[in-house]
Amino acid sequence: MAIVIKSERDIDLMRKAGRIAAGARSVARQMIEPGVTTKAINKEVFHFIKKSGAEPTFLGYGGYPASACISVNEQVIHGIPGMRRLCEGDIVSVDVGATFQGFVGDCAGTFPCGQCSDEALRLIAATRQSFFEGIRYARHGNRISDISAGVQNYAEAQGYSLVRDYVGHGVGAKMHEDPEVPNYVQHGHGSPRLMKGMTIAVEPMVNAGGWEVRVLQDGWTVITADGSLSAHYENSILITDGEAEILTMADDL
Ligand code: MF3
Ligand code: CO
Repeated sequence: MAIVIKSERDIDLMRKAGRIAAGARSVARQMIEPGVTTKAINKEVFHFIKKSGAEPTFLGYGGYPASACISVNEQVIHGIPGMRRLCEGDIVSVDVGATFQGFVGDCAGTFPCGQCSDEALRLIAATRQSFFEGIRYARHGNRISDISAGVQNYAEAQGYSLVRDYVGHGVGAKMHEDPEVPNYVQHGHGSPRLMKGMTIAVEPMVNAGGWEVRVLQDGWTVITADGSLSAHYENSILITDGEAEILTMADDL
C-alpha cells in the first residue's frame, strides 16, 4: 500500500478528528485517580467521542472490545478496560482514536495516578520528550528514520529502551496506513522520504528495562517481558515545509 498525501480538505477533517481524539485523552487524564475503574474511564471516552459527532475508532477494530486502550504500569499498550481499580502510584497509559467524517485522529499519553515514584515520573516525562525530540526531524525532505533516530537517541540516553514489536504509522482515512514509523533505527533498511501533506502517528513506547514485550492470554494486552514500567506517548501529526503540525494537540498535552 502506498503512502497517501492528504488534500486540504482531508487535512481540515484530520484536524477536526484530531481535536476530538485529544479531547478524549484529556477526559481520560482528568479521571485518573485512586479507586476509579479503567472501565469507567473507557465509558467517558466513549461518550465524549460520540457527543463530539465522531465514532470511537478502536471499538470493534480487529475485534477490540473498547473505545480506549488503558495500560497500567508494566502494561505497554492495548490494555483492555475492565473492573481493575487504579491505585495510588500507578502509571496509566491511555490510547484513544476518533473517526470524524471519515478521518482518524489517534493519540495516547501516560499519566500518574496520585503520587508516583520519581522513577515513574522520570519515565513519563522522558517518553513525552522523546516524541518531541523525534518530531524535530519531521519535515518535508527528511526520512522517517530521522524521526526514529531522534526518538531513540533521546530515550536511550535517558537509560531507557524502545519497544520494537510495535511501531507508529501513517494515519488518515484508515487508522493504520503506510508508512511504518519505528521508534528505533533499522540499519541497512531504506526509509521513506517525508513529504508535505503526509499525516503520521508518532508513538514512542518506552520501557524502563529491556525492549522485549509479550502479549497476555487475553490476546491484546502487551506487557514488558521483564516486568519493568512502560510509558507511551502519541500524537497524529501533519508533515509540512516547516515544523510538523500536531493534529491531536490539547492545552494539557
Ligand atoms: N492507537 C493504537 C495504534 O496506534 C491502536 C489501538 S489498537 C485497537 O495502533 F485495536 F485498539 F484499535
Ligand atoms: Co497509533
